[in-house]
Amino acid sequence: MTMDRLTRVPGLLYGGDWNPEQWPEQVWAEDVKLMAEAGVNLVTVGVFSWARLQPDEHDWDFGWLDRLLDLVHRHGIAVDLATATASPPAWLVRAHPGLLPVTADGVRLEFGSRQHYCPSSPAYRQAAVRLTRKLAERYRDHPALALWHIHNEYGDHVQECFCPASAADFRRWLRERHGTIEELNRSWGTAFWSQHYNSFAQIEPPRTAPGPVNPTQLLDWHRFCSDALLALHRAEKAVLDEVSPGIPVTTNFMSMLKALDYWEWSRHEDLVSDDAYPDPADPRAHVNAALNYDLMRSLKGGRPWLLMEQAPSAVSWRPVNVPKRPGLYRLWSLQALARGADGVLHFQWRASVAGAEKFHSAMLPHRGTAARGWQETVRLGTELRRLGEIAGSRLRGQVAVLLDWDSWWALELDDHPSARMRWLDLLRPWYAALYERGITVDFVPPTAEPDGYRLLLAPNLYLLDTATADRLTAYVRAGGRLVCGPFSGIADRHDHIHPGGHPGPLRELLGIVVDEHWPIPDGATTAVRLDGTELHAERWSEWIEPEGAEPIAHYGSGALTGLPAVTRHRLGAGSAWYLSCHLGADLGPVLDLPLADAGVSAELPGLPEGIEATRRHAADGTGYLFLLNHGPDEARVPLRTPGTDLLTGAATGDTLTLAPLGAAVLRLPAAEERP
Ligand code: GAL
Repeated sequence: MTMDRLTRVPGLLYGGDWNPEQWPEQVWAEDVKLMAEAGVNLVTVGVFSWARLQPDEHDWDFGWLDRLLDLVHRHGIAVDLATATASPPAWLVRAHPGLLPVTADGVRLEFGSRQHYCPSSPAYRQAAVRLTRKLAERYRDHPALALWHIHNEYGDHVQECFCPASAADFRRWLRERHGTIEELNRSWGTAFWSQHYNSFAQIEPPRTAPGPVNPTQLLDWHRFCSDALLALHRAEKAVLDEVSPGIPVTTNFMSMLKALDYWEWSRHEDLVSDDAYPDPADPRAHVNAALNYDLMRSLKGGRPWLLMEQAPSAVSWRPVNVPKRPGLYRLWSLQALARGADGVLHFQWRASVAGAEKFHSAMLPHRGTAARGWQETVRLGTELRRLGEIAGSRLRGQVAVLLDWDSWWALELDDHPSARMRWLDLLRPWYAALYERGITVDFVPPTAEPDGYRLLLAPNLYLLDTATADRLTAYVRAGGRLVCGPFSGIADRHDHIHPGGHPGPLRELLGIVVDEHWPIPDGATTAVRLDGTELHAERWSEWIEPEGAEPIAHYGSGALTGLPAVTRHRLGAGSAWYLSCHLGADLGPVLDLPLADAGVSAELPGLPEGIEATRRHAADGTGYLFLLNHGPDEARVPLRTPGTDLLTGAATGDTLTLAPLGAAVLRLPAAEERP
C-alpha cells in the first residue's frame, strides 16, 4: 500500500511524540485540551512504552493505552501508534542477555539507555514481533488509529553488532549473496594477504583487527547491517500488513544516514517519514535541511512525506544546544512543507521532567502555556490549518542527483588515495550551488532511468557497475546532460578496480582517461582557470588526458599546471562533463555551464539572496509558491504572477516584501502558473 496522505486526517498533519506513560493520567486531560487549542491532529504514541505495555513476559497492560486512545479520539485527534520495540525492557534483556549488542572491540553494551538490541538476535526479534502482533490485534479497529509507526529511528545508537548471533546471520547472508565459498574468495580478493577461506564457517564479522581489514568484507558488512535492520523492520511490517490492512505504516528515517540504504528501505514504507534536527547555531543549516527534505520526497518518487520529528526549539544532545530564535521554528517548519511534506510533527509534545531528554524543547515547554514556545506552537497550528489545501500537492525537481549507498560505503573505506573523499562533503557543495541558484533537486538511485531530467549530476560514483554506466551513456546519447565528479568509475560492485584505466566503464562516455590521482594536502589548494576566472580546488585533483573530450577549465598551479581540470564530451545528442577535482565552494561557475547547456534556470528568476522559492502543484494544476526568507534582511521578491497568500489571505501585487524569517505561501491559478 502506498498512501499519498493519511485519509483519516484531513489537511496537513500537526502534532508530535507524546509520552503519556511519563505522566499521571490527570495530566492527559490537560494535554488533549491544549492539543485541541494548538490545532494538533496527530500524536505519536507508545514509542518507548514496551516496559509499560508488557511489564513481564506473560503480563500485558493495555488498559492505559485503551483509555488514552479513547480520550484522544473523543477530542478529534488521530494516533500514529508505535510498535514500541525500540527499547526492550529489562526483564527481556536479563532473560536473554545475548540480545544486547556487541561492539567491534567485543564490548557488550549494557541496558540503561535505549536501542540496546542486536539486530540479528532471534530472542529480540521474536519478542518484538509478538508485541507488534498484540498491538495490531488490539487496536486495528480503533477509530483513532491513522498510522502505524514501526520501532524508532533504526540505526540510531546501534547500527551494527559483532556478537556470535550477528556472525551467524552474516554467514547466512554471505552464503545467499555469493553462493559458494569460491565465489566469496573471488569477490573478497582473498588471494591478498593470505586471507583465503576454506568454508563459510571460518568467516567472522570485521571485528577490530591488527591492520586494515579486507575492504570487500567491510563493504559486504555495510550491506549486511542495512539488510539486518531492514529484516527486523520487515518482520514487524508483515505483521501489521496481515493484521491491520488498510492502515498505512511508516518508520521514521534519519535524513541522509549512511548506515541504511533508504532506496531499499523506502520500498517497504507506505509513507516516508523523517526526523530532522537542523542546528539553529549553524547559519547554513537550512541548506542542509533542504537537501535532506529533497531526499525524503525523492525516496517515493515525489510523493508527499511527513516530517515525523523536529525540535520546537533546542535539542539536548549537542554539546551546546542553541534554541530557535522567534520565528525560526515557523520558518523551518514551512520549509519542510515547501519541499513536499504533508505535515510537521515534533519530538515532543510535553517536555519531560526526568530522563536523558529533560532539557529537550517541546511543543508544551516546562513553563507551560505562558512560555514563548507555546505561543509559537499555537501560531504554527493556526497557520497549518490555513494551508490545509496544499496537502497532497507535489513538487518535482528540475535536476536529478545520483545517490548510491553502495558507492557511498565503498568510497569511504580505508586506504584510499585520500581519506578526505567523504560522500556528504563531496555532495554538499553541489547541492548548495543549485540551492543558491533557486533550482530544485530530486535524488535518483543508480537504477533509475533518468530520462525525465534534462540534467543529471553525479558528484561521485566511485563504485559503478557497467549496467549503470550503460544507462548513463544511453541517457547522454539521447540528449541528456551528465556532470560527473572526480574519483568516479573506479571500482566494480566487489570493490575491485575496473581494469584498463580510470574511470573504467565511464571512460568512453566522458572521453577522458585518468593517468594518476593527485590528492591535495589538507589546507592547500590548487588553482583552476575557467576562462578569465580563477577557482580553487581542494582535497582532490587528477592528472587526466582527453580522449575525445574538450577541456573547459585547466589547472593553474602545482604539478598539474596546464592540464585539463574540467572537460566536456559531446556524445550523440547530449554531453558528458567531467570534473577531475573537488571545487567546494567554487563549484558554482562550473555548474553554470551545463545548467545553461541543459536550459535549466531558477524556479523564480531574480530572487534576492536568502530567499528560498519552491513550487508545489495540486492535481488540478493549482500552484503553491513557497517563499521563505532565511536572510538577515527584509527582502522584496519580484513575482511573475500575482497570487493569494494563504497565510494572510491577502492578494499580492507584482512584488512581495518578506521580513527576516518571513514567509508566504501563494496560491497561483492553474492556467497561469506553469512557466
Ligand atoms: C530522535 C529520537 C527521539 C528523541 C529525539 C531528540 O532522534 O527519535 O526519540 O530522542 O531524537 O532530539
